[in-house]
Amino acid sequence: MNMHSADATTVEEALAVQAQMDSDTATAMAMEETLLSPRFYTTDFDEMDAIDVEPVRQDWDRLIAQMVSDPNRGHFKKNEDWDHIDWEGMEPALRKEFIDFLVSSCTSEFSGCVLYKEMKRRGNNKDITQLFQLMARDEARHAGFINDALREAGVAVNLGFLTQKKKYTYFRPKFIYYATYLSEKIGYARYITIYRHLEQHPELRFHPIFKWFKEWCNDEFSHGEAFALLMKTDPKLTRGINVYWIKFFLTAVYATMHVRDHQRPVFHKALGIDPTEYGYEVFRKTSELSRQIFPITLDIDHPRWQRNLDRMHQANVELAQVEGQKGLGATLTRLGARLKAGFSFVSLITIPSKSNSVPVSTRLEPVY
Ligand SMILES: [Fe+2]
Ligand SMILES: [Fe+2]
Repeated sequence: MNMHSADATTVEEALAVQAQMDSDTATAMAMEETLLSPRFYTTDFDEMDAIDVEPVRQDWDRLIAQMVSDPNRGHFKKNEDWDHIDWEGMEPALRKEFIDFLVSSCTSEFSGCVLYKEMKRRGNNKDITQLFQLMARDEARHAGFINDALREAGVAVNLGFLTQKKKYTYFRPKFIYYATYLSEKIGYARYITIYRHLEQHPELRFHPIFKWFKEWCNDEFSHGEAFALLMKTDPKLTRGINVYWIKFFLTAVYATMHVRDHQRPVFHKALGIDPTEYGYEVFRKTSELSRQIFPITLDIDHPRWQRNLDRMHQANVELAQVEGQKGLGATLTRLGARLKAGFSFVSLITIPSKSNSVPVSTRLEPVY
């Protein structure tokens, strides 16, 4: 009997199962290198391998034991809850945006898998390699499951090809902590917000994959917890100049989400979700969670906040309108849009942040 990536206990097994199908279109979408598209990262693995988790040992062992117990083994595969989807009959605009959503999600999941797997391969520190092996296992399942959904639409991302050909961006370990911690926690907040909304409105659930979001987001929650503990091992990471870096990453991650989600109006309409309200809710949850480790939160109620997010979205629309066009008019539009996006970002990042006193114990449970 063939194995499924959901049943795999290691990242290697899960990827071997996935290494069959692909489609050129989906892979090309996943290969895209724009400011907004999900990236692959590489870092200083030796520095990360040198982390000593002794200061957080108790919380660490508890978290690792929970991940080793693997509550979601076997979860990420189609079962009797997987409803048939008429991809051919789907409204073309919805189909396009939904596929874009799935490919982008699959790429993000796989980006985590590649980074975590590499850390596990390069490291010698037992604590660190064990954690990264466990997280890579989860992300391989997540990416594999999205690919299963894409395959039904006749598209799937060639994950092996991506590993080899996609560009890798180098980030220092501390930037990896800030960016990855946030992407795990915002991932949790996004999945659980959609899940809870569709629990109230099951008639709007136009695809079965949303039924899997609850257990899914618990994996992301644990991954975020692990990064919070890693940051807790070194107080310098959340002090001094690094507070500015934290603010930068918070602003960049929130703004990227806003602009990206507003690129998919039809998808959100089908789910009965207003992307602005949804974004606000996700930012609120993520900010609340990030108080476990970050000494500041962003003031998302400040009058400049929403206005400048909308201006960034507008700049992105203007850029898209002249995409691929040559000539003076297009060049000027592009320049204007880039300036607008740049000024909006400056306006966002200069909003005074709210300070937060970080609790002694970091650990949280998923309560949303
Ligand atoms: Fe994931
Ligand atoms: Fe994750």
